[in-house]
Amino acid sequence: MSAVAHTTTAASAQSFEVRPFDAPVGAEIIGLDLTRPLSDDDFVRVHRAHLDHALLVFRDQRITPEQQIAFSRRFGSLQIHVLKQFLLADHPEIFIISNIVENGQPIGLGDAGKFWHSDLSYKELPSLGSMLLAQELPEEGGDTLFASQQLAYETPPAELRQALDGKRAAHSYTARYADEVFAGIRRPTLTEAQLAEVKSVVHPVVRTHPETGRKGLFVNENFTTHILDIPEEESRQILAELYAHSAKPEFIYRHQWQPHDMVFWDNRALIHLATGCPSRLRRRMHRTTIQGDVPF
Ligand code: SIN
Repeated sequence: MSAVAHTTTAASAQSFEVRPFDAPVGAEIIGLDLTRPLSDDDFVRVHRAHLDHALLVFRDQRITPEQQIAFSRRFGSLQIHVLKQFLLADHPEIFIISNIVENGQPIGLGDAGKFWHSDLSYKELPSLGSMLLAQELPEEGGDTLFASQQLAYETPPAELRQALDGKRAAHSYTARYADEVFAGIRRPTLTEAQLAEVKSVVHPVVRTHPETGRKGLFVNENFTTHILDIPEEESRQILAELYAHSAKPEFIYRHQWQPHDMVFWDNRALIHLATGCPSRLRRRMHRTTIQGDVPF
């Protein structure tokens, strides 16, 4: 088990409800106030709900960066994003995702998540889960889609499933960099030091969730470059089929953000995609990213 209560607290229990969505994944947590420290019993319930539903929505959380960081740390150590220019001042654990430009400079990563991905799958220790807090939302657009890779694994065409047995794939942070820049997506140039932080890694194509034991696909169009030990063309074909399969509507929950929503998803079970909003509208989100285990 990788997620543990990292701090014990004397906090008092809160009365809250877990209400599953009418969707393949996700549940709303009603009545939990994250400005208050979580009691150990409440932590156990939230942790269980996160494993059961893979995604939790906490509404109207007017929490400070310190409170977001403290809540995130209950689930594990936090990962610091390689794009240091978009870390919140004095709180490097918070990565800013935003299309806002101030004084000619983007305040956050403008086009994060334009391709399906699992956060930090390009690291030796990819993310357990991410918490994304809505700070400023556009009047139109800006939804995020989440697709269950466990459902996707359980339902691929038989011949495709056989082709995945024991396979491993390489992941790289810069896998789509050239395509993204070509498509007009703003991507900061990486320094030598940043490139050294994101060397290509290899993970199984199918991973077993370390806490639930459920299997799921673990490749994504944003960061996976190729499947090892098979011809390049075959790898390209299998990945294309997997990408088409893994984002079928029946695996997807669409999150339409409300002010101060905080969404906590499981990167070991889901991939996600930011649908974007018109560039004239402002969107600003704060993300913490919790470190997971070596995938197996
Ligand atoms: C992300 O990929 O973590 C960002 C998703 C979003 O901005 O909706």
